[in-house]
Amino acid sequence: MKTFKTRQSIREYLSAQAGITIGFVPTMGALHNGHLSLIARSKAENVITVCSIFVNPTQFNDPKDLEKYPRPIEADTAKLEAAGCDVLFAPEVNEMYDDNEQWHLDIGPLEHLLEGEFRPGHYQGVTQVVYKLLDIVKPTSLYMGQKDYQQFLVVSRMVELLSLPVNMVMCPIEREADGLAMSSRNVHLSDVERKRALVLSKTLNYIKDHFDINREAELEEQAMELLAAEEGIEPEYFRIVDGKTLYPATPASTSVVALTAARVGKTRLIDNMLIY
Ligand code: PAJ
Repeated sequence: MKTFKTRQSIREYLSAQAGITIGFVPTMGALHNGHLSLIARSKAENVITVCSIFVNPTQFNDPKDLEKYPRPIEADTAKLEAAGCDVLFAPEVNEMYDDNEQWHLDIGPLEHLLEGEFRPGHYQGVTQVVYKLLDIVKPTSLYMGQKDYQQFLVVSRMVELLSLPVNMVMCPIEREADGLAMSSRNVHLSDVERKRALVLSKTLNYIKDHFDINREAELEEQAMELLAAEEGIEPEYFRIVDGKTLYPATPASTSVVALTAARVGKTRLIDNMLIY
């Protein structure tokens, strides 16, 4: 695997490979099997797979979360080598941003719903860094996880608005054997919290099994109660929405997804499930 730390060096390397398909997997590191499933999919569909590891400061609305975000770069590099990743881009913050750099992209209502409501500014930071990374890597296809469902829609909207020449690919959520969605933040959970966190996937499964388009509000309320009933869990939201707009699902919705966020002790977790 070739590793680059500067924009210029990776640009030069990739531009010399003209005419081949490039699959790109942007990450913030602390890699787990969820990330590696994206690498595997990209490898299956492209000649070259590029992964980036960059803990992007502009998308963190909580400075403590940024500070304690895990950064095991050596273990990550070994995992990428073992997965057969071809290129790693791992820049420092000052390589990606100038001082006082500004960014704003109007992505419409998607920015302020759900995660946007609880993490103001988060999606501006995400679009800012993904735009920069796409401009550097110029991939054929961009691989992102359903785990961050709203992020996928936000980035897809940016790609559409700016007519960026990249194919968006959504990859399914990888879970632990007991159902917990894999996340870099899971390392912050104590053993007790790790068990309590199972209530997220259990509640999503329960709602999926009992889904009725005419009882949406009631089911959302029931789900919030199930989450809150678990000791040490503070639910932020549980919504059943149209899979394209993230507005409340209606009988006309062609896809419906349930999304949730909750605090487990000091750790904030998100999860979601496609209902259809
Ligand atoms: P990060 O949280 O590291 O996630 C990188 C990619 O891995 C995202 O597309 C995410 O949806 C996917 N992913 C995370 N957990 C997953 C799981 N359990 N199963 C499948 N895929 C999973 O998302 C980000 O980083 C950042 O916001 C980024 C896009 C890199 C911009 O900074």
